[in-house]
Amino acid sequence: RLGWPGLLAAYGEWLPISEQTPQLTLHEGNTPLVYAAKLSEQVEASVYLKFEGANPTGSFKDRGMVLAVAKAKEAGKRTVICASTGNTSASAAAYAARAGMEAVILIPHGYVALGKLAQAVQYGARIVAVRGNFDEALEIVREVADPLGMAIVNSVNPYRLDGQQTAAFEVCDVLGQAPDALYIPVGNAGNISAYWQGFDAYFQAGKTKHRPRMYGFEAEGAAAIVRGEPIAQPETFATAIRIGNPASWDKAVHAADASGGQIASVTDAEIAAAYRLIAKEGLFAEPASAASVAGLLQRHQNGQIERDETIVCVLTGNGLKDPDSAISLAGDVTEVVDCNFQAVESLLGGRV
Ligand code: F0G
Repeated sequence: RLGWPGLLAAYGEWLPISEQTPQLTLHEGNTPLVYAAKLSEQVEASVYLKFEGANPTGSFKDRGMVLAVAKAKEAGKRTVICASTGNTSASAAAYAARAGMEAVILIPHGYVALGKLAQAVQYGARIVAVRGNFDEALEIVREVADPLGMAIVNSVNPYRLDGQQTAAFEVCDVLGQAPDALYIPVGNAGNISAYWQGFDAYFQAGKTKHRPRMYGFEAEGAAAIVRGEPIAQPETFATAIRIGNPASWDKAVHAADASGGQIASVTDAEIAAAYRLIAKEGLFAEPASAASVAGLLQRHQNGQIERDETIVCVLTGNGLKDPDSAISLAGDVTEVVDCNFQAVESLLGGRV
């Protein structure tokens, strides 16, 4: 056996699989839970970052996709279909390729980060860019999947949430208990629902003594749950969570309410600031991921963090997926010089 066996093998007893389920894996999961020393000092709590960018396609989507694609294959489907702001489609394309299936993806034209598009291209997905946003694309996917005989692998497919629970299991397994609070970005609201399902499953099974308070953060321009109504034209530079009518809305509200947490919103400026701060811990996460840390800093400013509590912030996707955002926020800071001793020495001499 080659090291970490992947999620279906590692957490199979918690998942709806049987002998008939293909043992699909890209060895997803088992991602680092990184202690964030600087953030911890700043907010006077123990802050850990769950670095989901370390998954095979660079986001948490692989946890649910491995199960959703395995179950689609088990059911005899040949093609999977999804709407996506980029990460779901990259993951669907990868696992479909792995399983010998086809992937069809509907993406909002002009609003998918370059790295995610490159992944879908390279994995050989059929890429359909719709002149509309994610919510509109998802509506169409829900209509066409059945007539076309394709398996939907958006998080409206319950296997996606079943698989994504494993992130909560890992957090508890590594900490030896549930954290006091979990901070997480909210887009289509599947992931916060999946974490809650996972924390609850471990708690009900007696593996943990409590369940964490769940804090979800939408981008302000796409904060439908916070506002209490769908947003027809959601806007945020964090394109992964540019979603105005979350499919798992009720589940997310339940997770926040039942746990004593909250769904709140963070501005693009708060997301951008958190995005830079995360890099100071040595991690590169994509903008949407930074909504969790932006939420942490916002609650700290409001005096809402309990001293010394244990907090896990989920970093949902890898920063390399969206190089344009990093470079456009920082500016191109590259210094170009002639390639000789004098040029480099005189450039650095005055500045080190
Ligand atoms: N962070 C990243 C990096 C994402 O890609 C997403 C969702 C979220 C957070 C929000 O998670 O939807 O479960 O609340 N991306 C989806 C996609 C919509 O198509 O890749 P959620």
